[in-house]
Amino acid sequence: SSNGERELKDEIQGLVASFPSEKNWDGAPLYFYKGVWYPVFAIRGALSFQQHFIAQDTDIILASMPKSGTTWLKALTFSVVNRNIYSPKESPLLTTPPHELVRFFEMDLYSKNQLPDLKQLPSPRIFSSHSHYRTLPQSIRDSGCKIVYICRNPLDQLVSYFHFARKFKRENVKPLSSIDEGFDNVCLGIQSYGPFWDSVLGYWKASLERPDKVLFLKYEDLKEDITFSLKKLAEFLVLPFSEKEEKEGVIEEISKLCSFDNLKDLEVNRTGFFESAGAPNSTFFRKAKVGDWCNDLSPSMAECFLKIVEEKLAGSGLSF
Ligand code: A3P
Repeated sequence: SSNGERELKDEIQGLVASFPSEKNWDGAPLYFYKGVWYPVFAIRGALSFQQHFIAQDTDIILASMPKSGTTWLKALTFSVVNRNIYSPKESPLLTTPPHELVRFFEMDLYSKNQLPDLKQLPSPRIFSSHSHYRTLPQSIRDSGCKIVYICRNPLDQLVSYFHFARKFKRENVKPLSSIDEGFDNVCLGIQSYGPFWDSVLGYWKASLERPDKVLFLKYEDLKEDITFSLKKLAEFLVLPFSEKEEKEGVIEEISKLCSFDNLKDLEVNRTGFFESAGAPNSTFFRKAKVGDWCNDLSPSMAECFLKIVEEKLAGSGLSF
């Protein structure tokens, strides 16, 4: 009922007002809830998602920190899963932004006033999340659904987010003007869906404990060998490429379709606005370079942040 919905909304609003808060790079607040910093446009959706989402065994969940290759992973996974439905020349990716084909739980599906009706969606359903593993609804962790996590060098992730945040259009708030302003906070883990190390460690450990259920990918590895990465992704999803498909060049077709140069230049991604994030679609495509951080971070900032990350990841077997 709409009364019930209003009550739910007021209840969450009241709750959020009591959370610790800091300034995000876009100038808007971040809210701290159970160990995670959520951007203002995602906090209500994140709580609602945690409370209400019911997983199905066939679901595929794409997880990441923001600016780690989420858009790319969405395009790749959508293409792998639907390769028998659409040929690359008639892929919906040519006319629809990746974020509309695979929608975010927190800032999109669960951020509306009404709970989304997801039961009607054809299986396998593909969703995406920036939430930490530990905070995922129990039903995801208990079900047979597959989780693919993508991470990225923390310095590149940070610099990518800085540029992204400056393109937001928000009422009454101004983005931070330099990367120095806000850097101290990032070193404390205060950034959108931070701390960085908690996000990566949660999925890293889960991928070691349940490799059939959680696949851990690195942006840099995809950049280095997309064919190998696509095969790994398809095998993990139990949709391996057949020998015939390999011979016919299906893997190359998918990697070309989803490549940065191809997606970035499509009309649909050059124009239009992604309402849920409050940013033009084009902001999801910037440079896509490995090591681009060196244009924005001083060597001492980089060293300082990397040292913190290294300390946090020590002993985990994960490094950047
Ligand atoms: P840069 O800002 O370094 O260019 P996300 O998709 O998680 O928001 O991450 C965005 C980053 O991925 C941006 O990095 C963006 O340019 C890059 N990116 C977007 N689409 C890509 C693609 N198809 N292939 C490789 N990188 C891509």
